[in-house]
Amino acid sequence: MMNAAKPRVYIETVGCQMNVLDSELVIGALRQHGYELTDSPVEADVLLFNTCSVREHAEEKTYSALGRVRHLKRRNPDAVIGVLGCMAQKDQELIRKRAPYVDLVVGTGQLGGVPELVAKVQATREPQLAVSLGRADAGRHEVEASFISYDPVRDPSMRPTPFQAYVRIQIGCDKFCTYCVVPSTRGPEQSRPPEHIWNEVRQLVDQGCKEVTLLGQTVNSYVYHQGDRRTRLSDLIAGMHDIPGLKRIKFVTNYPKDMTDDLLDVVRELPKVVKYLHVPAQSGCDEVLRRMKRNYTTAYYMDMLARCRERVPGVAVSSDFIVGFCGETEESFQKSVEMVRVARFKNSFIFKYSERAGTKAAERYPDDVPDEVKKRRNNDLLAVQNENSRLDHRAQVGRMVEVLVEGPSRMASKVATAAAHSPLIQLTGRTMTDHIVVFDGTPRLIGQIVRVVIEDASPFTLYGSVLTDEVVGVETARAAPLREPPRRPSRFSLPVI
Ligand code: 5AD
Ligand code: SF4
Repeated sequence: MMNAAKPRVYIETVGCQMNVLDSELVIGALRQHGYELTDSPVEADVLLFNTCSVREHAEEKTYSALGRVRHLKRRNPDAVIGVLGCMAQKDQELIRKRAPYVDLVVGTGQLGGVPELVAKVQATREPQLAVSLGRADAGRHEVEASFISYDPVRDPSMRPTPFQAYVRIQIGCDKFCTYCVVPSTRGPEQSRPPEHIWNEVRQLVDQGCKEVTLLGQTVNSYVYHQGDRRTRLSDLIAGMHDIPGLKRIKFVTNYPKDMTDDLLDVVRELPKVVKYLHVPAQSGCDEVLRRMKRNYTTAYYMDMLARCRERVPGVAVSSDFIVGFCGETEESFQKSVEMVRVARFKNSFIFKYSERAGTKAAERYPDDVPDEVKKRRNNDLLAVQNENSRLDHRAQVGRMVEVLVEGPSRMASKVATAAAHSPLIQLTGRTMTDHIVVFDGTPRLIGQIVRVVIEDASPFTLYGSVLTDEVVGVETARAAPLREPPRRPSRFSLPVI
């Protein structure tokens, strides 16, 4: 049968969930233009690199990826190589200088135009550059137009799993932490109209999606005004909560100053809302926080944390920390250690400070902590966090938790052939508090919410046995199946965690 081969696109994504979503949208748009996705750069007609600028390391990753595909361009001069996203926005000229074979440089606000830009390169063989001219010029109309008309084009094959999807509710950031490049790469903060978001969530649920993660750089600053009506994140969540078929609602990332009680009340009261809050503290030293321009003190952060735990019993809180920020002395670092020790975060992401050109910190403060010191502080802080994660995980042993089964565990893929005769594989999923659980079950459980009893724990993973009909009669079934979920005493208490 004759079938004209479809053009193929290959994409690599670095960075945050926002980038993962952007890549999904770009691929969705290209599919509408007849493209199909390939995981082989050699076979691709279009090779895209969706980039991150938050730390230098992420940028170097992209340059080495570009280096790896250089030879493809020699073999196939018609191939189109494109750099998308934050780095494209920030370093348009530099990219073309370091990798002159790049045909396409497209900033975060222009991603909707990728199919046309690719076609233009193919037609003219002229490199195409599409970026915002800067914050002042990234006029709100331009930004609004691009992301509103753009989000509905989705591509299920690019999602974390077919039943989980990211939904952007806000773009940009107005906080201007002095170390951070995001306000300049993603432009001014802007919240999306609630009706657009609700429609998108409905559409995703119709496609089989069970969990949505609402994305914003400071997602809890979300607010949308229409005349007299004000929609906050809490209202937005309440407005989508009863969509039939939707099982879980998550949201990331939170800004400590905007963690208001109305939001915490919604997290506590609405059963589909995940009892997990990612609220980056960044440092445990007031002096460092002031230089970072985070607009809060450690005392404020710890009060906020206590309020989260009081208002949402059982909530899991995680954080980000930067070590080795400009002027961070050993004494100030020890204050971060103390905070991590006392705060008992579920987990923390710890980063070595990476100076970013164009930020206030780069302008004002010397990057004066040597790299070996940053490394050592990173390890020290991680060790304290890991001990807390271990304790947190140990405390879960014996509990029954509800797990959304995401797929085979990494181990399962490795042992798949050895265990080919077994109806069970090792599965992985997450609890309502975002804990990762590994357990044996049939592949039919993938995409389901199952009850699992936790039997063992490492600092990073919980291990358990599933309690469902699916494993009855199988040797590893640990207990008789429960047919009814345990009853919650009231809607004000946590669902089974
Ligand atoms: N250097 C190191 N880490 C950074 N982050 C943001 N900017 C920088 C930087 N210049 C970290 C913060 C943020 C996370 C996404 O990345 O901790 O919360
Ligand atoms: Fe960057 Fe601060 Fe905005 Fe987060 S809140 S994206 S760290 S400027």
